[in-house]
Amino acid sequence: MDIISKISEMQAMAAELRNKQRKIAFVPTMGYLHEGHLELMRVARANADCLIISIFVNPAQFGENEDIDIYPRDIEGDSKKAKNVGVDILFFPDVREIYPQGYQTKIKITELSQHLCGISRPGHFDGVATIVAKLFNIVKPHTAIFGEKDWQQLQIIRRMVTDLNMDIEIIGVPIFREPDGLALSSRNSYLSPEERVSALCLKGALNIAKSMVVDGERKSSKILDAMTEYIVGHPFTKIDYIAICDSETLHYVDAIADNPVLLALAVFIGKTRLIDNAVITPKTNLLK
Ligand code: PAJ
Repeated sequence: MDIISKISEMQAMAAELRNKQRKIAFVPTMGYLHEGHLELMRVARANADCLIISIFVNPAQFGENEDIDIYPRDIEGDSKKAKNVGVDILFFPDVREIYPQGYQTKIKITELSQHLCGISRPGHFDGVATIVAKLFNIVKPHTAIFGEKDWQQLQIIRRMVTDLNMDIEIIGVPIFREPDGLALSSRNSYLSPEERVSALCLKGALNIAKSMVVDGERKSSKILDAMTEYIVGHPFTKIDYIAICDSETLHYVDAIADNPVLLALAVFIGKTRLIDNAVITPKTNLLK
């Protein structure tokens, strides 16, 4: 596995791979790799000749009072995991390389970024879209793989790729969970043992919502009330949002009809903000 930190070198390598007709799959990450990230890489590996990942903790997507200074990092452990899963190139630039002096360009996805996490994290998705667009220009992938764990992020990237005519296939991968249901996240490392127990309320609330839909409930307010009641019954919790919305437009829905809906939530467990989601398609009674 090659480790590249310079943009010019990464671009030259990507151009050479393309000249040789090699198909490039790309998985962008912020590192501290866990099985969820590795699952994306396995899917990528199966879809290409060359697997490139990036590790970059992107300051532009963190708000002022957020956790960039304490965001977990472990480049040595990450390199080993990446190598074991079959990564060919690890792109690992520093902040000055990505945002040199004088940098001033931003990408804004105007509507999709106004919902859900965009409300409590203003500017976050501008930072995400901008770094992902930059990484696409550096790595020149044919295919890029993102997790459904960050459903809104995935929709925003799809929108950007369509709107800006980027010739890149976007693949979404289902949420990878611990055996007890907690969605894997680099931020889970912040949780104390007691908080880790409470963190199960996110998946628990999604399960409650799903079974209410299976039993015929269609009113969003009833489902949201039950989820809220369940979560506040757990110690250390503070709800940021719980929403039922159209899975593509992310507009709230009052009553669940035939279109797939996204149940999405963000909950603080102590100081740690966790997100989770599930998509339900009541028409086919298919529960994911
Ligand atoms: P990061 O949080 O490191 O996540 C990198 C990728 O892994 C994202 O596509 C995310 O959705 C996916 N992922 C994380 N946990 C997952 C899980 N439990 N199951 C499935 N996929 C999971 O998301 C980012 O970094 C950044 O915003 C980034 C896109 C790299 C831009 O900076």
